Amino acid sequence: MIGTANGLAVSITGLGSHVPDRVVTNDELSTMMETSDEWIVERTGIRERRIAAPEEALSDLALPAARQALEDAGISGSDLDLIIVATVTPDMAFPATAAILADELGAHDAGAYDLSAGCTGFMYAVAQAYGMLAGGLAQRALVVGGDVLSKILDWSDRGTAVLFGDGAGAVVLERVGQGGFLGFELGADGSGGLQLYLPAGGSRAPATAESVAERRHFVQMNGREVFKFATRVLVASAEAVLAECGRTIEDVDVYVPHQANVRIIEYATQKLGIPDDRVVIDVDRYGNTSSGSIPLALADAKADGRLAAGRLVLMTGMGAGLTWGSGLIEWTDGGRT
Ligand code: ACO
Repeated sequence: MIGTANGLAVSITGLGSHVPDRVVTNDELSTMMETSDEWIVERTGIRERRIAAPEEALSDLALPAARQALEDAGISGSDLDLIIVATVTPDMAFPATAAILADELGAHDAGAYDLSAGCTGFMYAVAQAYGMLAGGLAQRALVVGGDVLSKILDWSDRGTAVLFGDGAGAVVLERVGQGGFLGFELGADGSGGLQLYLPAGGSRAPATAESVAERRHFVQMNGREVFKFATRVLVASAEAVLAECGRTIEDVDVYVPHQANVRIIEYATQKLGIPDDRVVIDVDRYGNTSSGSIPLALADAKADGRLAAGRLVLMTGMGAGLTWGSGLIEWTDGGRT
């Protein structure tokens, strides 16, 4: 799917993020499994990640991020008419975490649902919310991207356990006078689905004593194949959305790629020809937070003053599905109509 924003102007008017308190360094991981700080930094660029407490679920990370985003936008939960939570680690299979969040925020008039598109979930959810606002169906949307992947990682598998972390980010979307989203490109290639998946616990393989004993409720990944896929789609999706919107890479002021691995980001950055100082990187501190990755990186970029009004921001995600998605936005710094 690809298209330019031809409807009403819609932008991000509020931004928030939240990560668990507990920092787990590479050195700590090397006391738990056969790995080292040197290996992890060289192959991934990750130095530490945040890991949720045993009692912490996704909504516990999403709620503070959402409250921050609402405060940043200057609105309250009861003003929302749409909440989408992009995640593969909801509090439970159902009810949706978005409905739990709506209740906690006092958003009694909001439609609320979860969306599953792996690490690309945030981009999919933002595109959906954009469509509903631009088409006049909704007025104020909250989009949360967040995951607590630590709960579905096999902590005896060094090939996956070192890569991921927990965190959530949230954005408020509203109509604005001008600027805002320019276009989106979203895609999926289900033929690669088994390169990155969670085998059991769904209707294909419901939970049994055997499935638990066989550790089939944990993430399984073919790292090399995902690496190849990720480098290819990060570049192709970014180029596609730029071309569709009549922009070039030189126009991009801030590039926010999915934070999976510094090597993947460096490859994409070089291929696209974006100068390093325009690229947002925080994977060294958070690891791969899946759906949380892009909004956490946006929050970082905002904190260091990079998201000034008028700047062109390119976001590209990719992940399980296999899926990918890009969005291009002219930052508005509020400015709702
Ligand atoms: N510590 C030490 N050694 C390790 C570790 C570890 N944590 N993990 C693997 N190794 C070993 C392997 O066993 C292998 O040893 P061998 O040569 O004796 O067999 C060796 O290191 C090399 O393993 P490779 O898998 O070939 O290492 P590679 O350079 O491909 O790096 C990595 C692995 C980091 C997983 C890389 O493939 C990668 O980043 N892939 C993409 C993963 C990703 O980003 N996934 C998520 C994207 S989508 C989403 O966000 C949901």
